[in-house]
Parts: sequence; structure tokens; C-alpha cells
Amino acid sequence: MAGVPTAVLISGRGSNFSALHAASLAPGYPARIALVISNRADAPGLELAAAAGLPAEVIEHAAFGRDREKFDAALDAKLHAAGIRLVALAGFMRLLTPRFVDAWRDRLVNIHPSLLPAFPGLDTHARALAAGVRLHGASVHLVRAEVDSGPILAQGAVPVLPDDTEDRLAARVLAVEHRIYPMALAWLAAGKVRVEGNVARVDAPCSEAALINPAG
Ligand code: GRF
Repeated sequence: MAGVPTAVLISGRGSNFSALHAASLAPGYPARIALVISNRADAPGLELAAAAGLPAEVIEHAAFGRDREKFDAALDAKLHAAGIRLVALAGFMRLLTPRFVDAWRDRLVNIHPSLLPAFPGLDTHARALAAGVRLHGASVHLVRAEVDSGPILAQGAVPVLPDDTEDRLAARVLAVEHRIYPMALAWLAAGKVRVEGNVARVDAPCSEAALINPAG
């Protein structure tokens, strides 16, 4: 099977993993999901991986206590054993050590549910509502040692509506995540990304259209 062998790292639901996997089945998609790794044995996403017939591994972080270096070394060993060349974090709720991040530099990508650099960290939808922003969204970025930082490959914006709850806003953002993550992974796998400092240059069409909310 063609396509750059890619691992998806999850901790929970796995909807972004599913979106990546579904996209990867299209003819000519430049990455193929060769491995799913969860740091939790009870992650529902593992069942999705099994249903898709994909190899899945669990590396219980609890087994490593507070030793992040050892956990990351175990992760790295599994990735190498499977011949993985790209790693996509998809709801992987574990901080990775600078050593691991550096070893996978520009081959390690994450999706974050905000328009970075706004709202790094947790509870992004509640924080966006509390801040009163009119546009919110999701970002796909290359991973650097600092949490939710690194060159941005793609962003998708959604309006924040007057009657939004955290759940409604999260659902609107998630639909965008499922569109931008497969797109950005494809660019990375196809060699269409060039990194200049903290800026990713992507060889893909851009639009000049503005998204304005309230629309006026
Ligand atoms: C997504 O919102 C993702 O942006 C964030 O964690 C959530 C994971 O959802 N990093 P899922 O497991 O992919 O459904």
C-alpha cells in the first residue's frame, strides 16, 4: 500500500483519528494510517481502530509513573518498530518531552481546538465564550516543545453565535477539525510544507474571502 506510514496517537474518543483514516482510504492520499497508539486502555478510539482493522497499541502512561522520558522512549520504540515516518496527535492528552519532540521535528503534527495562538491549553471553547470572541476554530500545527505552539499548517474558523453553549460551539469546531486535519496531513506527507522559523509555507491554494461575524 502506498502512502507515508503514519501513526495516530489518541487518548479518547478518536473522531479525528477516524477522519484521518477515512481520508487516507481515498486513492492517491499520500499518508496511510499504519498504527494507532493510545496512552489509555479505555480510549473509545481503540474500538474504532479495531473496527477499521488497524494495528493498535496501548502504552499505559500510568505504568511509567512520573517518568516522562521512559514513556516517550517506549513510544519512540513502538513507532520505529512499525516503520512510522509521521505522527499525528489526535486528542492525545499527554505532554511529550523536548527530546521526543526534537527527534520527530517537522514530522509530528497536532490538532488544537482554537485559533492559535489564542487559547492554548484546555477548555478552549469555554474560554472563547468567556472572552466574547466572534470567531473561534481549530488549528493544525507542527509540534514544538512548548504546549500548543509550532508552525501552523491550517486553521478553520467558525462563528460564535449568540445562543452558543460550550457543546454547540465544540460541535461546530469539531466539524471543521475533521476537514482541516486530513488536508494538512496530506500536505505534510506529500512534501508540500516548508518550515521557515516558526512559519510553515504550504504549497496549497489560499482564499482572500473574509469570514465576518456578526455578518453586518
Ligand atoms: C479534539 O477537539 C482535538 O482538537 C483536541 O482533542 C479533541 C479530540 O477529539 N486536541 P477526538 O478524540 O479526535 O474525537
